[in-house]
Order: sequence, then structure tokens, then C-alpha cells
Amino acid sequence: TIEIKESTVLVILGASGDLAKKKLFPGLYGLERKCLLPEDFQVVGFAPDQISHEEFVNIIRSPVKLESPRFAEQLKQFCNRCSYVSGHEGGDKSFEALKKKLDEIGHGKKEQHRLFYMALPPSVFVPMSEQLKKHCYSEKGQTRLIIEKPFGHDLESSRELQRSLDPNWREDEIFRVDHYLGKEVVNNLLVLRFGNEIFGSIWNQRNIDNIQVSILEGKGAEGRGSYFNSTGVIRDVMQNHMIQILALLTMERPKSLSADDLCDQKVRVLDWIQPIKVEDTIIGQYAKSGDGEKPAFKDEEDVPDDSRCATFCAAIAHIDNERWNGVPFFLKAGKALNESKTEIIIQLKHSANANIFKDMVPNKLTIRVQPNEGVFLTVNTSVPSLTTSIEPMDLDLTYRDREIPEAYEALLLDALRGDYSRSVRGDELDASWKIFTPLLHHLDENEEEKPREYRYGSTGPEGLDEFVTSYQNRSKM
Ligand code: BG6
Repeated sequence: TIEIKESTVLVILGASGDLAKKKLFPGLYGLERKCLLPEDFQVVGFAPDQISHEEFVNIIRSPVKLESPRFAEQLKQFCNRCSYVSGHEGGDKSFEALKKKLDEIGHGKKEQHRLFYMALPPSVFVPMSEQLKKHCYSEKGQTRLIIEKPFGHDLESSRELQRSLDPNWREDEIFRVDHYLGKEVVNNLLVLRFGNEIFGSIWNQRNIDNIQVSILEGKGAEGRGSYFNSTGVIRDVMQNHMIQILALLTMERPKSLSADDLCDQKVRVLDWIQPIKVEDTIIGQYAKSGDGEKPAFKDEEDVPDDSRCATFCAAIAHIDNERWNGVPFFLKAGKALNESKTEIIIQLKHSANANIFKDMVPNKLTIRVQPNEGVFLTVNTSVPSLTTSIEPMDLDLTYRDREIPEAYEALLLDALRGDYSRSVRGDELDASWKIFTPLLHHLDENEEEKPREYRYGSTGPEGLDEFVTSYQNRSKM
């Protein structure tokens, strides 16, 4: 394994914001608890707020739940690594203050590696990254920029963002986070596929009838109405999280697990995915719950009454290569649904032996990303009795009782070590935007494209079952 280099400093820009509070500090503290941080590793928080060191430490401590008193010592140790620089003066002055702090930390050391996590709105990525390059680039060590979606809102704006970063930051200095790549079960996809002949050998259109990937959320936009209204579910989770899952599910075996070999194969398969057509989608927006208790999307603050924002999307994707030709991929994502679940279903074809038994079901592999992580294979088994009836049962590989690392712990550790195998490469981003950009432009530009309403807490818009069945029937023709 690659180790974190000694004398590494992680600067969190936007240190008083939600991402830092809810994910980054808890993730770093998780690494501390697992004793994965080198002794002289330091964290610097940077934000416009004028807060004291104590107030900053409270931000770090507040989300941490101490399961046991013995962790209190480690939390204290972690807080001792952290310091805060206020950027309240703005412009060059703020970054000079940050540079001063970094120089102080690096004083007397042979080298110092600087990582900058942009926990900031994308509108300031470019100016901030220019300031960092100008003032804070490490003269005696490596420098890395860590950024997180949204990377633009379509293919062109994503390329534009890339072009703006290019003059200052090399591709190997940019770590793009997609937190789904840090989820344990997503991580397991490659092991399942390429580490088990039983799955590897059936992974193609001869054996698989269809594949379903769902990212379902029980909560609505809750307080993020304005952000969500300008984003919608396709940009929020499908173009990134879902596409990453799809790429890992369908790519060819990489030559090695190196970042380049992995990304090369992901890009290759994404290039085979046809841009999604509007007629292959169902777009929805949630209305009030049946009992009127839960609000409609349009009741959220800053969401206009005529919003056409998609809070639900079901889409069919096709991959035109030899392995996947003819297999429909049902992609479904939405907010305010009847359940919260991220799941992949690999539906196998009917067995050729189906005619000698009655009541057989085709095998099905269910990969549950969350909650209750696990992998289940539905097989036909004989019911223990004196008759010869058959029932489907699950071979069950649940993760119950196994400690599952948090996604941000995993990705922060990658970024600190400089392991890019779970960072999204620029050309992956391009390929994923190509799949959705024509659809997004069509939906944005055509006033008559109104989402279908569905009730908060329901399974989604009406017509969904017919939509799925019609594709299942087509694939059998
Ligand atoms: C984020 C989206 O990227 O992913 C959110 O912006 C969404 O809208 C979240 O709720 C889902 O992540 P998780 O880890 O809770 O499944």
C-alpha cells in the first residue's frame, strides 16, 4: 500500500461549511481512530468566518459521536493537528495569511506536501485555485487540489471548468471526488466480477436479461430547494454516482488496478453508451404526501411554482458493445420516495432447464450498496418436504457485523496517499456528460416538457411499471 507522506498538510477551504462539518472532519477523525495518520500530519481550516481556535475545534468535535471514552483521547489528538486561518480580509491578503501558516508548519522541514480540499461552491473553484497556485503552491513537495461535483452542468461547461484549471494544475495534481466510489459495496464490484469465476463467466448478454441500478431516497430536497432546483436529479446523482456504478459494472477487465488502467477501461465502456433519449425516460417531480404532511418540491423555499425540475428520473441505457448488446439497463433515481435504497439487480435469463421443473424463477444477483449492505443470489431450491415443489431462496452475503469504512474516510485516505484509482479522471467526466447532455438540454429548453407528478412517499410517477415491462418485452423479442 502507498503510505501518506510525512509532512503532509491538508487545507480545507470552506472549513465552516456543511461538507467539512458533516463529512470531512468526521472522515479524518475516523482515520485518526484507525491510526492511519502519520505523526506530523496537519489540517488547516480556511474560511471567511472570524472564529477562534476553540470555536473551530467545536466545529470539528460537534458531529463526532464518541462510542467509547477511550476515543476521547484520539479526538483530542486529532484536534491538536488542526488549526484555523480566517480568510476574512479577502483576495490576496487571505491567501498570504494561509501561506504564512503553511510556511510556519513546514518550517525546518526538508519537504512539505500541500493538499487543498475545495469544500466550496463550484462558482469559486477557479478563482480560488488561481490564488492557491499563486500563493500557496508547495516549493518543496507535492501540491494537490481536491474537488468535488458539480463539475459543470453539461459537457461544455465541464470542459470549460477543465480548461480554466489547466494552465495552473496538471491532471495528476487534481483529485476529483465522487463519494460513491468510496462506498464499500461499490468498491467490491470489481472484486466480485473479476475475482470470482462464477460471476465473471456469466457477465454478458448471453446470460443476463437486464440490469437495474437504483438510487432511491426517502427524503425530499429538504432545505436544499434552491440548489436542487438548479440541478435536478440527473445532474445531482445520475451523471456522476450512477455512471460510476455503471462503469464498474460493465467495463472490461483492466490490465492492472493502477489508476490509469482502471480509468482507461471505464472511459472505454462509457464511450459505448448511447446518449439517453428523451423517449427512453420518465421524468417526475414530487407533490405533497397523501396525508398532506410532507411538502411538495414546489413548497421548498426558493423553488418557483412553475419549476420543471426533475426530482425523479427513470431511464433506459444501452451499451452497444459485444458484451452488452441488447441488454437494457434500467436506471432509476429519485427523492421523496417510499424507501431509501441504493441497489443493483443483475437479472439473469431463464434457465434452459426451466421446462423440467415447475415454478422456476430466473436467477437474480442483488447487490445492495446501502442500507444493509450485502450481496444476495436468488436460486431455485427444493422445498424440504415430501413433494417436489421449488422455491426461490437467497444465498446471502450480508455485511452484518462487519465494520464498514465511511466513504469519505476511504477517499480522503486515497487523496492523502496520492492513490488516484478512485479519483474521477477528466476524460471519464467528459464521457459521462456525453451520455446525459442532449437529454438535459432538451429538458431545459422545452417548456412543454413537464415532469409527471408523484406523491411524496410513493414509488414514483405512474406508468413506471408499464415503462419497464415494455423494455423487458422488447429485449426478449
Ligand atoms: C449527493 C447529492 O451527491 O449524494 C445528494 O448531492 C444525495 O442530493 C447524496 O442525497 C446521496 O448520497 P448518500 O451517500 O447519502 O447516498
